[in-house]
Amino acid sequence: MNEIDEVKARLDIVDIVSSTVTLRKSGKNYSGFCPFHSNTKTPSFVVFPETQTWRCFGACAEGGDIFSFVMKRDGADFKDVLEDLARQAGVQLRAPSPQSEEEDKQRQKLLELNAAAADYFHKLLTAAPEGAQTRKYLATRELTSDTIALFQLGYAKDEWEALKRHFLDRGYTTDELLAAGLIVERDDGSPGYDRFRNRLIIPIRDARGRVIGFGARALAADQMPKYLNSPQSVLFDKSATLYGLDLAKKHIRQVDRVVIVEGYMDVIQAHQHGAQNVVAQMGTALTEQQLKILKRTTGNFVLALDADTAGNSATLRGINIAREALDRETVPVPTARGLIRYESRLNADIRIATLPPGKDPDDILKDGLEAWQKIIDAAVPVIDFYFQTVTRNLDLNTAKDKSAAVHNLIPVLRDIGDPVEQQHYIQKLARLIQVDERTLIAEMKRQPKQPVPRRKPTVMPPVSLAQQPASPATTAPKFNNTLADSGLETYCLSLVVAHPPALAAANDILEQQQMDGLGVNDFNRGSNKDIFRAMQLWTAADNPQVSTLVDMVGESLAGQLLSLANFWQNRPPIPTETIYKDLSIAILRLRLHNVGEQIKELRFLQREAVENNNFESARHYTAKVKEYSQYRKKLEHTRDALSITGKRRTEAVL
Ligand code: UTP
Ligand code: MN
Repeated sequence: MNEIDEVKARLDIVDIVSSTVTLRKSGKNYSGFCPFHSNTKTPSFVVFPETQTWRCFGACAEGGDIFSFVMKRDGADFKDVLEDLARQAGVQLRAPSPQSEEEDKQRQKLLELNAAAADYFHKLLTAAPEGAQTRKYLATRELTSDTIALFQLGYAKDEWEALKRHFLDRGYTTDELLAAGLIVERDDGSPGYDRFRNRLIIPIRDARGRVIGFGARALAADQMPKYLNSPQSVLFDKSATLYGLDLAKKHIRQVDRVVIVEGYMDVIQAHQHGAQNVVAQMGTALTEQQLKILKRTTGNFVLALDADTAGNSATLRGINIAREALDRETVPVPTARGLIRYESRLNADIRIATLPPGKDPDDILKDGLEAWQKIIDAAVPVIDFYFQTVTRNLDLNTAKDKSAAVHNLIPVLRDIGDPVEQQHYIQKLARLIQVDERTLIAEMKRQPKQPVPRRKPTVMPPVSLAQQPASPATTAPKFNNTLADSGLETYCLSLVVAHPPALAAANDILEQQQMDGLGVNDFNRGSNKDIFRAMQLWTAADNPQVSTLVDMVGESLAGQLLSLANFWQNRPPIPTETIYKDLSIAILRLRLHNVGEQIKELRFLQREAVENNNFESARHYTAKVKEYSQYRKKLEHTRDALSITGKRRTEAVL
């Protein structure tokens, strides 16, 4: 039995569920009110002791095992839940390697240090004479002392080494202060100084409420930048953090909706005024990872964008991946196309609320909760938002503007995952510009042209991937194609399902070639990412069974997983001796496909920059294209090297 089964065998789902949900016995099973959607009329939530599963027969229509229940209840990820439940069950998880044990210790120490630092800053704000001015400032921002305590706001003194001395005196080391990002090393390597000086301190917490970093707002007019944030660290990953989530989680679940704003101050003001389902992105483009974290709690997202952002052409342009990779620090939201793809990949509803010009959520909330609620309720689906924005400045009676509308909207329509929804918007566009629907559909099929692969791989894997075309253009038009599974994702995953040891073996082969092993980021399709994450744990188990993997990924992905498991049923098997190499080559081909897509987008951006006479950006994109192309060369080279030795071996076998 593996660890997961062991935990399941020792715990009873009825006990775990009834610690937070009142259950009543009905026949063999137990029922109660579903904790995941608000409803006080029908007890639609059922726990089945025999199968140790649960299901909501009401609005959520979801179900699963003990793990998925706790994950959903706590908004936690699988690893954390496994640790928690294993502790409760008295199951010893496989001893961590000495290295990860060391890492764990370091993380614990840094968490401790961060908590102590938050406390230190908070005391300076609330009790020290130096904090007086900042207290006044917060009063002008209309924040109450309860709010200041709830968010544990703080003050960093206007000194170079105040924090450093404070913590060195208390036994922390310079290295720890550096690792937490609380002090900055001098260029010459001599001892560092405090990162945050004369700033309002905003502790940033993870979903479990642990301080993982700080945002620090300037207090003086000439202080730059306005916000100084902790650097990325073992604890702090901006792209996977949402400010305020620890406090908002419960409320998001209650109202089944999350509102995402741009600023820390907006979140703080929102909570003070009773809008408690509000979180903020972290001054970076909203990432899919952030949305996925929220998706554990709700599928309904509202992005509250200020008028500038909403009208910003970058928000509207049809380019996504490349821009996200390049402009993380400057663009607050992904493009509309990016959002639409997120929407279909995550099976979520994303809406956009546009704030009145010149106003932050902060300002609106000060006018009262009602004004805020009205704006949020008026949020429109991303695509409608995109339609509105694209057509706002066009005269749709003219041929030229009709063509411009089609040009801008077709790529977005193509990205809509749901065919019925897609049809709806094709009709809408047809009506809007008074053009026949068929013309639009033809146009939609025509673009984008996919380049013909430059050369054939030297050795085709035994199962021809031509049956699963890497380039969607070679089959009937597939919508939502750019980021969908190219076929290679399925191919790689199905090989691992059929031969669990192949993953580690293929990664070894890649490592020998100085390439990274297969990682979550190699996958574009959200569900494939989830499956792969589970697989990483699963392949490490003693005797991995497909049924265990099904349990791990949960019911929603079970169907997809089973079709992966059946993938090889109607196909000639790959000879065992070449499976490892075959997988490593497939991984390289997957990467080649992805990097090819990115280069295409970069080229587009580059051309666009030249057209707009923005030569600085053009140079930047040119450099990026070069960088990506070099990477592509390296991938091709490695693929060919592996293919050739693979062929020799196959020949030797024959
Ligand atoms: P804003 O400038 O809108 O800040 O930036 P704010 O939170 O509304 O603060 P106030 O109301 O002016 O005091 C939005 C967010 O962008 C990030 C921060 O996360 C901020 O909350 N940001 C902004 C930075 O990280 N660095 C900056 O220099 C500026
Ligand atoms: Mn603001």
